[in-house]
Amino acid sequence: MNKWHVLGAGALGQWLHRHLSPELQGQLIGRTTPYPRIDQALICVKAYDLPSLALSLAPHLHSDSLCLVVANGKGFESFLQYLAGQIGLVISTAAAWRDSQGISQGVTLGQGLVGSIQGKLEPQRLAPLLPLLNWQLSEPIEQQQWQKLALNACINPLTLVHGCRNGQLLEQHLAQLQALCAELEPLVSHLKLPLAGALATQVQALCQATANNHSSSLQDFLAKRPTELGFILPPWLELAARLGIHCPTLAQLWQQVEPYSPLPSSQFPSSAC
Ligand SMILES: NC(=O)c1ccc[n+]([C@@H]2O[C@H](COP(=O)([O-])OP(=O)(O)OC[C@H]3O[C@@H](n4cnc5c(N)ncnc54)[C@H](OP(=O)(O)O)[C@@H]3O)[C@@H](O)[C@H]2O)c1
Repeated sequence: MNKWHVLGAGALGQWLHRHLSPELQGQLIGRTTPYPRIDQALICVKAYDLPSLALSLAPHLHSDSLCLVVANGKGFESFLQYLAGQIGLVISTAAAWRDSQGISQGVTLGQGLVGSIQGKLEPQRLAPLLPLLNWQLSEPIEQQQWQKLALNACINPLTLVHGCRNGQLLEQHLAQLQALCAELEPLVSHLKLPLAGALATQVQALCQATANNHSSSLQDFLAKRPTELGFILPPWLELAARLGIHCPTLAQLWQQVEPYSPLPSSQFPSSAC
C-alpha cells in the first residue's frame, strides 16, 4: 500500500512527484497513460478537468482506495462522489509552473492542509506521505478551502482583466481591489472564516509578498488555457445571492472573465448526469 500514483503530469504533479521518496514509489500518470489499479493517488489536474478525470478513474479504484485532490476552487466536489474509497482535499500554497518544454519549474512546496471530503482520512495511512510534501491534516477542510477562495477571488480576476503582476494591483488598481475586498468581507464574516475582518489587509500583504508573480489565472490565459475562475468566483456570487448581498464589482469581473473560465457543469459529459 506504499505506492502513490500522481495523476496529472503538469506543473504541480511533476513537482510533487519529485518529492516522493523512493520508498513511496511515486508513478506519474499523464493524460494518455493507461490507468493501472490504483490504491493511492495524488490528483493534480485543473478543477475543470476533474469531472472527466473522475469518470475515467472510477473503474480503477476500489473500496479501500485513497485519493487526495490538490485543486483550486470549489464546485467540483459533487463529481468526486463517483470515486470509490476515501477522498481528501489538499489546500496547497506550493508554487510551480511549466516552462516552454512542459517541464515543471518548482519554486516552493509551500504548505498543504489536508482534510476529508468523502470518508474519514486515516492519519496513520497518510503518515509516510505528509512530511515529504510539507502537508498536515486539518479538519474540517472546508473553511480552509473558502479561505483560499477568498484570496484568489480578490487577486486572480483583477490580474487577468488588467494583464498585470500581483504587485501592480497595489500600484495601479488599488481602488478596485479595495472595492472587491469590501464586497467579499460580509461573505467572509458570514462564513466565520479566520480571515474575517482582515480580508483587505491579507490580500494586500499577499500582493506585496508575491509582487513579481503572475497569478495562476493570468498564467493560464497567457498560455491559452482555460482559467479556474469558474470554480472561484461563482461560489461567492451564489452565496451573495442567497444572502441578498449586492456585489457589483465581483459580478462585473465575472462577466469579463467568464468567456475564459469553464463552469463545473459544462465540463461533465451530459450522459453521466
Ligand atoms: N502549480 C502550482 O504551483 C499549484 C499550487 C497549488 C495548487 N495548484 C492546483 O493544482 C491543480 C493543477 O495545477 P497545475 O499548475 O499543475 O496545472 P497544469 O500545469 O495545467 O497541470 C495539469 C495537468 O493535468 C493533466 N490532465 C488533465 N486531465 C487529465 C486526465 N484526465 N488524466 C491525466 N492528466 C490530466 C494536464 O494535461 P494537459 O497538459 O494535456 O492538459 C496537465 O498536464 C490546479 O487546480 C491548481 O490550481 C497548483
